[in-house]
Amino acid sequence: MKFLSSTILMLAIVGSVAMGQSIVNSGHDFSGTGWAGGEICVPCHTPHNATATTDAPLWNRAIPGTPSYTLYGGYDMQSTPSQPGTASLLCLSCHDGSVALENFGGVTTGTTVITGGFDLTSDLSDDHPVGITYNTALVGTGTSQDAELYDPSVKTTILGGTIAADLLVSDKVECSSCHDPHNNQHGSFLVMDNSGANGSDLCLTCHNK
Ligand code: HEC
Ligand code: HEC
Ligand code: HEC
Ligand code: HEC
Repeated sequence: MKFLSSTILMLAIVGSVAMGQSIVNSGHDFSGTGWAGGEICVPCHTPHNATATTDAPLWNRAIPGTPSYTLYGGYDMQSTPSQPGTASLLCLSCHDGSVALENFGGVTTGTTVITGGFDLTSDLSDDHPVGITYNTALVGTGTSQDAELYDPSVKTTILGGTIAADLLVSDKVECSSCHDPHNNQHGSFLVMDNSGANGSDLCLTCHNK
């Protein structure tokens, strides 16, 4: 019994560290690796000589020039997925498994690529679509409209603003619609709990199911 309860306590502590509000000790804290120089921010941001993009401040990684991912095909999609926007390419600069994690700040000789379930690969056909325009025009019962989506310019989220303001990037669904790379308090870097009072809170914020 004593062993059991101390094991549970230990799991609880490990769990609370991994699910902390901050990036510290999360899956995006690479300060303990040999290649990040003991720093947390530098694999993604730099104070100087940054890569120009408006989707993240002072970005420190190369952004793939002409993306050619295999896109989500769709089951009954009314929108048309396009290549991921820059906001998603920032994530895919590690998460498609083609660029080494330590390739930042101009380094191109890294060898540590992401593996396992963290590797989305260049085939995004098995992932929630990104690069899709989600605006008022998509919502409704007409041709090329989806009746089971909330109007993103009207519906508010538990974060306080509208779907468009809180979750979309220039009216598009991108990785950061669902993830905040710095905040792991909800697990999986989700922007909100997806198992709260209503079950799938994140999914049900946009999908009227
Ligand atoms: C694994 C990559 C990664 C790491 C590590 C990282 N960031 Fe970011 N950061 C991003 C991305 C991607 C964005 C773009 C906006 C977004 O998706 O939140 C961003 C946006 C930001 C922003 C502007 C938007 C906001 O959330 O306020 C600030 C400020 C920022 N990061 C600071 C930091 C600091 C400070 C650190 C280190 C403690 C850090 N970041 C570590 C990826 C990272
Ligand atoms: C930021 C808003 C948003 C969030 C959050 C969101 N979705 Fe979506 N999702 C969309 C939009 C927009 C579409 C495209 C719908 C269309 O074109 O008809 C879509 C498409 C889909 C599709 C494909 C439908 C088809 O016909 O192929 C599925 C399945 C889906 N979402 C499930 C989920 C699940 C599960 C979650 C939670 C993990 C989720 N979505 C979270 C906006 C969102
Ligand atoms: C510098 C490379 C890098 C960038 C950029 C990056 N990630 Fe990650 N991410 C990783 C690695 C490596 C892991 C696996 C960490 C581990 O082994 O626990 C990870 C883990 C994750 C996880 C799983 C976390 C968990 O606790 O299960 C999610 C979700 C995630 N990243 C989303 C994103 C999103 C979304 C972006 C862009 C906004 C992004 N990442 C940008 C390297 C990166
Ligand atoms: C519609 C919401 C949504 C979008 C858009 C989205 N994700 Fe996720 N992602 C999730 C959810 C929810 C989970 C947690 C899945 C679970 O716990 O089973 C997740 C999990 C992950 C993981 C952890 C590994 C795994 O499979 O559980 C990674 C890595 C990840 N996402 C990266 C990304 C990247 C990179 C993008 C953009 C290309 C992206 N996500 C777009 C909702 C989303």
